[in-house]
Amino acid sequence: MLAVAEKIETERKIHAIETSELHKKNFGQYFTPYAIAEFMASLFPVSNNDLNILDPGTGIGILSCALLNRIKKENWNNPSIKLSAYDIDTEVLENLTQNLIEQKKNFTDFDFKIHNADFLEKTSFEYSFGKNEEFTHVIMNPPYKKILSKSSAREFCRYFGLETVNLYSAFMGAAIAQLKEKGYLVAIIPRSFCNGLYYKPFREFILKNCSIKQIHLFESRKDAFKDESVLQENIIILLQKGTSQRDVKISYSNGADFESLIEKYYDFREIVNPFDKEKYINIPLPSCLLSDDFFDCQFVSLKETGISVSTGAVVDFRAKSFIRKNPDENTVPLLYPVHFKNYRTNWPKESKKPNAILLTEETKTMLVPTGNYVTVKRFSTKEEKKRIVASLVSDGDINASNFAFENHLNVFHSDKKGIQKELAFGLIVWLNSTFLDNQFRKFSGHTQVNATDLRNLPFPSKEKLIELGKKLEKYDGWNQELFDSIARECLNEKSAAANF
Ligand SMILES: C[S@@+](CC[C@H](N)C(=O)[O-])C[C@H]1O[C@@H](n2cnc3c(N)ncnc32)[C@H](O)[C@@H]1O
Repeated sequence: MLAVAEKIETERKIHAIETSELHKKNFGQYFTPYAIAEFMASLFPVSNNDLNILDPGTGIGILSCALLNRIKKENWNNPSIKLSAYDIDTEVLENLTQNLIEQKKNFTDFDFKIHNADFLEKTSFEYSFGKNEEFTHVIMNPPYKKILSKSSAREFCRYFGLETVNLYSAFMGAAIAQLKEKGYLVAIIPRSFCNGLYYKPFREFILKNCSIKQIHLFESRKDAFKDESVLQENIIILLQKGTSQRDVKISYSNGADFESLIEKYYDFREIVNPFDKEKYINIPLPSCLLSDDFFDCQFVSLKETGISVSTGAVVDFRAKSFIRKNPDENTVPLLYPVHFKNYRTNWPKESKKPNAILLTEETKTMLVPTGNYVTVKRFSTKEEKKRIVASLVSDGDINASNFAFENHLNVFHSDKKGIQKELAFGLIVWLNSTFLDNQFRKFSGHTQVNATDLRNLPFPSKEKLIELGKKLEKYDGWNQELFDSIARECLNEKSAAANF
């Protein structure tokens, strides 16, 4: 490592240890390890033109220095290099200034400006008067913090034509707006924007203004930022403004060890499905890069199978007065996630959770008639191997004509009634397949599984689901291997044909 790189990495480590968690939280301040900064800087194509670099939320300047070190090392031939650094924290200014002054020695025409100001406030003001700078390169690790709809940060974003919910997407939007046509942006950001309703305007903003050139995924979030208590799963993204979308490079490494890098190009339609109104950004998984377990049958949307998915109707803290620990003659069964084990229903159950809900005029609308349903927990834990775990409620499981699902469950139903038995069994195979879990992980880094996410997954046709269900019906002990082998057998048309 260069001496300047070593110096800045030492400063980062000291900051990680000596700065209070409160200060870091208030400023959204987690500095980028130098190895990651170096990788980020390596993503820009070589340029021999004038450079105007932006590093919003600069911290002590790790990203800028990594880029400048690369330019120096590779002898780019830029007539001039300008850099704009923004940070609101006065405590970083001394180190930042020193680190950039140090860089001056390496270039004949390098100039920098440090703005100890709110990046969104200052640049939105300038932008609204057409007085903003235009940058050729942006390199950023923005602060991460939720922004409320009435906050000033939300107001500032609107000047750039963006409505968004977090500081990181606000910083990205503002940086994209100030990027020159054909300019590049590299960012390390949480992957939460890839799915979910709240980030839809941000996804649309990116896709309208830029093409996605590369997305880098870390196998382990913990490894990438191991000396900071950062919980979000992060990606690195390379965007180019105002150019048409081509294939996207997906790269993957084990934490900050970029020696184990795997890269593969994907057709953009695999990243953003052209028919997806939500514009989810799918990132093929390492396992997808390595294995070819995929199905060549035709997929349809959930709607086309005639099945719907909704969250359970009983929000327990709102329905508190109706909920009972044990069933009696005035109640009907109430199912919580604890009532499912080994893909089946296990009700009633002795646990902290109640088992029943009173049958009254008020609760009637929350009930469903007995029948076959499939549930998927809305919240899994990081430790659980699979995000999507589907369980069956069959019409023999519940000895009552009506019952209710609690709100921590997603429920697959047919127009609020039960599903045809083989179809429900087929859903159990499909939803529990490793293939589908991988599809889900392509767009979601959350442990949370929303009904909208489930609706957005691909499904085999109704006929194929029934075929899967008929196969599963023959077995009693359900397990992962069984689900995967049934899915492989029925859905891989080429290999099915080859068996004849
Ligand atoms: C996640 S840290 C990253 C720092 C640096 N870019 C790096 O990669 O090491 C985000 C930085 O943004 C700064 N910051 C937070 N809110 C800001 C704002 N509104 N305007 C400018 N800087 C801000 C914080 O003080 C912090 O140094």
